[in-house]
Amino acid sequence: IPHSVAKEPGGCCKCRNSELKRMARRNVLITGCSSGIGLALAVKMAKDEQKRFKVYATMRNLAKKQPLEEAAGHRLGKTLEIKQLDVCDEQSIKTCVNSIPDRRIDVLVSNAGMGLIGPIECQTIEEMKTVMDTNFFGLVRLLKEILPDMKRRKSGHIVIISSVMGIQGILFNDVYAASKFAVEGFCESLAIQALKFKLQLSLIEPGPVVTEFERKVFEDGMKMDLSAADEETAEMFTNIYLKNYKQIFQSLGQSAEDVAEIILAENPPFRHQTNTLYTPMTTLKYADPNGDLPIDIFYKMVFQHDKIFSASLNFIKLLRWRSRKSFDLGKPSQ
Ligand SMILES: NC(=O)c1ccc[n+]([C@@H]2O[C@H](COP(=O)([O-])OP(=O)(O)OC[C@H]3O[C@@H](n4cnc5c(N)ncnc54)[C@H](OP(=O)(O)O)[C@@H]3O)[C@@H](O)[C@H]2O)c1
Repeated sequence: IPHSVAKEPGGCCKCRNSELKRMARRNVLITGCSSGIGLALAVKMAKDEQKRFKVYATMRNLAKKQPLEEAAGHRLGKTLEIKQLDVCDEQSIKTCVNSIPDRRIDVLVSNAGMGLIGPIECQTIEEMKTVMDTNFFGLVRLLKEILPDMKRRKSGHIVIISSVMGIQGILFNDVYAASKFAVEGFCESLAIQALKFKLQLSLIEPGPVVTEFERKVFEDGMKMDLSAADEETAEMFTNIYLKNYKQIFQSLGQSAEDVAEIILAENPPFRHQTNTLYTPMTTLKYADPNGDLPIDIFYKMVFQHDKIFSASLNFIKLLRWRSRKSFDLGKPSQ
């Protein structure tokens, strides 16, 4: 049907094609897009060359939207819209979902999260509850609002940014790991029901990612009042954990863009670890059903072979730096 002459319902071929394209475009809602993985993923999806997605990039505090606006560039208002959503506030989730045409969310990316490190003696129950409320109940609140619509339509993909700490606990990350374990157990149960409604669930499990998260957690750790902890614990936290913290991120850390690229490129299976450098650590868990092996190895790595551990991290850092350098050298100069 020529564009200029078509009068019948449904319009001309061009209009119909663009309408079909618009209908085929998948609505994506991402939480926690003020920085890090959420921001990178929102921008990557909005800039998709095939224009497969309409991204609703949400954040709890719209005063922080400038970096996302700048990164989205001319896609802002076209394939990307910014909306307010606080995962700890049911009403804000409802208002956001109601503002989306037909409340249709094809892909939900539950990304908003926060960390907490340190000896539990020095953390208040309120601080711990905030972590659980954000990382675990935040996901539950989102699903209570969005899952019924997905079930009714018998279509939808729920992507959850979990962590390798949802598989394996790490020294001084007790409450954060607990929140991600809660997420993993919740999703593992829900995935069986979801299958009945043809819904897909994917747990993304990054290792260290260099984002605001790393900075905030480190700064909070440095400022922590350690007076409630015994001397040995305080010393362990300061001189072992915090001392190695930055080195671990520098050696093993991925960028938020890398993680976003992986999520978008690989239609993720139920569990998907993004960082192959970290996989040998999590594999320990599956190698021993009794659970002693990873605890024993981590103990030895931290307390007995700390110099070898530190040297290995430096070696990995050097290898990564060299491979990046040769990659850069191969690039045509600007
Ligand atoms: N970075 C890592 O090493 C790492 C590793 C594994 C998994 N993860 C997970 O990856 C996810 C994203 O973290 P990131 O590394 O990208 O850190 P990030 O840069 O700190 O981003 C976290 C985002 O969550 C938002 N957020 C926090 N509480 C919220 C709430 N109540 N409602 C809505 N948004 C809220 C933050 O908003 P504000 O700016 O307002 O605080 C921010 O936009 C988290 O779930 C984290 O647990 C991170």
